[in-house]
Amino acid sequence: MNEIRKYLENELKTFEVTFNQAVESSVPLLDRIMKYIVKTKGKQLRPMFVLLSAKMCGTLNEKSYRAAALIELLHTATLVHDDVVDDADTRRGFFSINALWKNKIAVLVGDYLLSKGLLLSLDNGDFRILQILASAVRDMSEGELLQAEKARKLDITEEIYFDIIRCKTASLIASACGAGAYSAAQNYEQTELMRQFGEKVGMAFQIRDDLFDYGKEDVGKPTGNDIKEKKMTLPLIYTLNHCDAATKRKIMRIFRHAEKNKNELNLILSAVESSGGIRYAEEVMQRYIQEAYEILKAFPDNEIKTQLVRLVQYTIERKK
Ligand code: IPE
Ligand code: IPE
Ligand code: MG
Ligand code: MG
Repeated sequence: MNEIRKYLENELKTFEVTFNQAVESSVPLLDRIMKYIVKTKGKQLRPMFVLLSAKMCGTLNEKSYRAAALIELLHTATLVHDDVVDDADTRRGFFSINALWKNKIAVLVGDYLLSKGLLLSLDNGDFRILQILASAVRDMSEGELLQAEKARKLDITEEIYFDIIRCKTASLIASACGAGAYSAAQNYEQTELMRQFGEKVGMAFQIRDDLFDYGKEDVGKPTGNDIKEKKMTLPLIYTLNHCDAATKRKIMRIFRHAEKNKNELNLILSAVESSGGIRYAEEVMQRYIQEAYEILKAFPDNEIKTQLVRLVQYTIERKK
């Protein structure tokens, strides 16, 4: 990761200036919250995907930097809202916006970030890039809603799980790669290839993230939260499809009242571990990565591609 950051050092600086300027506000409360958001920045993976995709298809330019900032703005907006939806009190190792300022303010802050992203593109006539991104925002909302519906009914299948993560996560990473490519080359074929590449990476990215929830390591946000929120992810879906009827009944009983059965949640964790659910999810994640690499074969081997492959590797090996 440090190597990629070093390789993109100047580009990331320019991106950060664009991002930080875009969130400036003269409203004192917003200004304070925006400073907090800037201070608690995340890994900035999506901007890196924008920048590397752009470099791979052509020459970085102002449009590329604005695309990177737009995507990080939209990503940040969805995280602020997501922590309200998931009732999560930490993010990036710090208190979440809702933990510090309550849900009401967090909802408004998310909307503010979204509007700042839209304005950044519109004010500069980046219509095509905004079009690429607007569909991702729609997909993300649909994905979160589908997930909420399934959490209520508990009738999720592997297929629906893949639909959910394609919408809520892969769509934005796909758009990051597509928008980056478009910003540098305006070539529709390359844009579409990079979009497909990003979608595969995004699927693997979310599976990695869902695996964190089953771990005990500190990842800067709550773990075990998916079960508490009745979110069934790939390791558990696999387990339910491969364990005996009695175990399945037991898991479902604990799951249904997850908020009350806190002490029994470990039973689910160990069932998932022993049924091979964790290993299975890791295998599926690897499969997506291989598919992503297949797509990259259409591009020449060079230093930029090496860095891009490094970034992909990081998304599945990361510790947070
Ligand atoms: C977290 O994304 C949200 C998911 C889609 C799982 P990141 O892990 O990229 O978040 P930050 O920006 O680095 O905190
Ligand atoms: C992240 O989803 C938010 C979106 C992708 C819209 P999750 O709820 O699964 O991710 P974390 O664990 O809170 O980051
Ligand atoms: Mg969520
Ligand atoms: Mg969440």
